[in-house]
Amino acid sequence: MKAGVFDSGIGGLTVVKSLIRHKIFEEIVYFGDTARVPYGIKDKNTIIRYSLEALEFFKNFDIDILITACNSVSAYAIPELRENASYPVVGVIEPGVIALERYDIKKDEKILIIGTKATISSGKYQRLLKEKGYKNILAKPTGLFVPIVEEGIFEGAVLDSSITHYFNDIEKPSAVILGCTHFPLIADKIGNYFDNNTFLIHSGEAIVEYLQENFDCNGNFNETKLSLFASENPDYLKNVAKKWLGKNCV
Ligand code: DGL
Repeated sequence: MKAGVFDSGIGGLTVVKSLIRHKIFEEIVYFGDTARVPYGIKDKNTIIRYSLEALEFFKNFDIDILITACNSVSAYAIPELRENASYPVVGVIEPGVIALERYDIKKDEKILIIGTKATISSGKYQRLLKEKGYKNILAKPTGLFVPIVEEGIFEGAVLDSSITHYFNDIEKPSAVILGCTHFPLIADKIGNYFDNNTFLIHSGEAIVEYLQENFDCNGNFNETKLSLFASENPDYLKNVAKKWLGKNCV
């Protein structure tokens, strides 16, 4: 099976990492819209327009399924992408909510959702969680984490003070949904802040489980062929991929 993975930039590589680790695709074609990142501060119509343009890119490849690694895209553009694609389109939000259900978290325990401004203001995570019966939901935009990770900062004073800035008035949640491609890279720091009993939901791992349950994605490919494309500066994307995924993956 050949998958397309679409993200606003480099962050979707965290999802690719999970897809490769679980060996579920024979081939992945990744497109990051690095010329126009970040999407997380843009409005719904712009995100939909950019996403439909990305669909044009994937016309050059014979993909069997499209995964929108970007939470901001998954928040707004899934219906339009599905309407215009001839293959299934899977976003990361529904899988993230389903993944949460697998933990033994009671419906009145506190769930914290963090993501970009676009993702949080779409209300999609909140709506799906409410539909599942969760009653104690706090959603907080934590957009500063995106440029911090882009800068390659995974520890130290800047990250620590941003974490404190966002979370110091928050009561410890039972689970945190990492509703942004970049956040798995600082998951340890977020987990440590609250204490290590807080469950963290990672989009990449969540979507793997979702794909295994809902699609013919149980193949055990020894190697996933990965092709990387970007709307600007593809070398940067490739260098980050080497760093995040390991040399053998690219
Ligand atoms: N990929 C985006 C997301 O997961 C984060 C970066 C951006 O704002 O474009 O929401």
